[in-house]
Amino acid sequence: MSRIGFIGVGELARYTIRGWRRGGYEKRINLSPRNAQNAAELARDHACDVMPDNQSVVDSSDLVFLATRPEDCFDALAGLDFRPDQVLVSAVAGVASDRLRDSLTNSALKIVRVMPVSSAQAGYSPTLVYPRHQPVCDLFDRCGRAIAVEQERQFDQGTILACVYSWYFALFDRLVEATGGDDLPAELAAELVVGMARGAADLALSRPTDRPGDIADEIATPGTYSRLGLDLLRDEAAFDAWQRACDLLRSRLATD
Ligand SMILES: NC(=O)c1ccc[n+]([C@@H]2O[C@H](COP(=O)([O-])OP(=O)(O)OC[C@H]3O[C@@H](n4cnc5c(N)ncnc54)[C@H](OP(=O)(O)O)[C@@H]3O)[C@@H](O)[C@H]2O)c1
Repeated sequence: MSRIGFIGVGELARYTIRGWRRGGYEKRINLSPRNAQNAAELARDHACDVMPDNQSVVDSSDLVFLATRPEDCFDALAGLDFRPDQVLVSAVAGVASDRLRDSLTNSALKIVRVMPVSSAQAGYSPTLVYPRHQPVCDLFDRCGRAIAVEQERQFDQGTILACVYSWYFALFDRLVEATGGDDLPAELAAELVVGMARGAADLALSRPTDRPGDIADEIATPGTYSRLGLDLLRDEAAFDAWQRACDLLRSRLATD
């Protein structure tokens, strides 16, 4: 397996590295020194090496992960010298491969984009990868499942779902509030809310050729309590706001 380096040691680096270590990846991981606290914590808890500067990360790694915020990524890349055999693996949302390539001194460098989410630390990130690159996919299979796509527009569209992932937590929270109370303590409501979500996800994953909406209709048949609530949600256009939120991100990702 290739040597790994990280430029940008923030939240994404922390949860991804935790996920890989949890998944049994034991080889060296080199970190950029900025955000010294995160780097020191990862060095202490997850056997990472903190390098003196970004160029040292590049020099000592085969897969160089770029995990700065989008507005910092071009500055971070400026002036770095890559070897032709290296791969730049960008986790930066909304920045296309061509824009990254324009800021590299070696324009022939292989670039792979990835989008792990924070469930990586629990071993459950469905991680988009573009284009397929086996060593990168093998790494993300250690903290969930790598999902490789062959076109960048598929990756950009899929990026919306890495944001939807965070909205689920807000939905869970509202459902805990809506169902918890004197009769059902909040901790039990939370366990049920999240357990039902996992159950629904597992069933949908076990039936990949069925539309999730068809599974809903199969369960919420006429006259059931499930249908009563589903009809109200549909009548009140509750799902339309989710559609609009996805549309908003789609338009922003197209222009950013
Ligand atoms: N967090 C998520 O859930 C998530 C999910 C999917 C994708 N992403 C993408 O992952 C990227 C990182 O997100 P994040 O949440 O990890 O952000 P973050 O917590 O802000 O971490 C980014 C880190 O990059 C550092 N940095 C900035 N410029 C640098 C440079 N020139 N050299 C080295 N390090 C530099 C920052 O240091 P300072 O703090 O000193 O500025 C910061 O520690 C973003 O582009 C985001 O779009 C994040």
